[in-house]
Amino acid sequence: MTTPESALPIRADLRGRPIVLRLRQPDDQIANLETEWDAWPEDLLPGSGDPTLCRLALEYDGVVVGTMSWHATDYGPTQGSRAWNIGIALAPDHRGLGIGSAAQRLLAEHLLMFSARVEATTDVSNITEQRALESAGFTREGVLRAAQHRADDVHHDLVIYSLIRNDLVGGA
Ligand SMILES: CC(C)(COP(=O)(O)OP(=O)(O)OC[C@H]1O[C@@H](n2cnc3c(N)ncnc32)[C@H](O)[C@@H]1OP(=O)(O)O)[C@@H](O)C(=O)NCCC(=O)NCCS
Repeated sequence: MTTPESALPIRADLRGRPIVLRLRQPDDQIANLETEWDAWPEDLLPGSGDPTLCRLALEYDGVVVGTMSWHATDYGPTQGSRAWNIGIALAPDHRGLGIGSAAQRLLAEHLLMFSARVEATTDVSNITEQRALESAGFTREGVLRAAQHRADDVHHDLVIYSLIRNDLVGGA
C-alpha cells in the first residue's frame, strides 16, 4: 500500500532547479531552526502513557440511553495544547428531550478541569447537534472542509464548536 512516506521522495523543478522532499536521515546536517515558537520544556509534554481516547455510556433515569466519547486533539506538543473532542449518540427514543445538550455540557465542564479547551465537530447538515451544542453553551468556530471520510466514500464538511475554560468564568 502506498503511504505518504512510501511515496517519497517528491521531486520537482523550482525556477529551473530541482527541489526534493525526502525522509530525514540521522546524519543530515541541518541548521538550528529553533524559534521562539519552539520552547517545549519536557515537563510540559504529555506522558507517553496518557490515554487519548475514552468511550462512555450515558445513563438517563437508570437506563443506558446513549454513548459519549472524547479523544485528544493536540494543537502543539505540550500538555496544555491538548483539547478534548467530544462525541455523542443517543437512542432514537431519547432524542429531543434535552439530554444531548445537558450531557455535552456536563462532559465539557468535566473535561475543562483538565484542559483549557473542549471541542465538538458535527456534519454541516446535522442541525440537531449544532443546536444541542449551542444550547450547551458551545461557540461555533467555523467549517472544517472535507474533514471526515465516511462510509459513503465522501469527505464531509464538519462544523467545529468549542467551549473553553474562560467561557465558564462568571457562571456561564
Ligand atoms: C444530536 C443529539 C446528541 C442531540 O441531543 P438531543 O437530546 O436530541 O437534543 P436536545 O433535546 O438537547 O435539543 C437540542 C436542541 O436541538 C433542537 N432539536 C432537537 N431535535 C431536533 C430536530 N430533530 N431537528 C432540529 N432541531 C432539533 C432542540 O429544539 C434544541 O434546540 P433549543 O435548545 O434551541 O431548543 C441527538 O439527537 C442524537 O444522538 N442524534 C443522533 C446522533 C448524532 O447526530 N450525534 C451527533 C453526531 S456529531
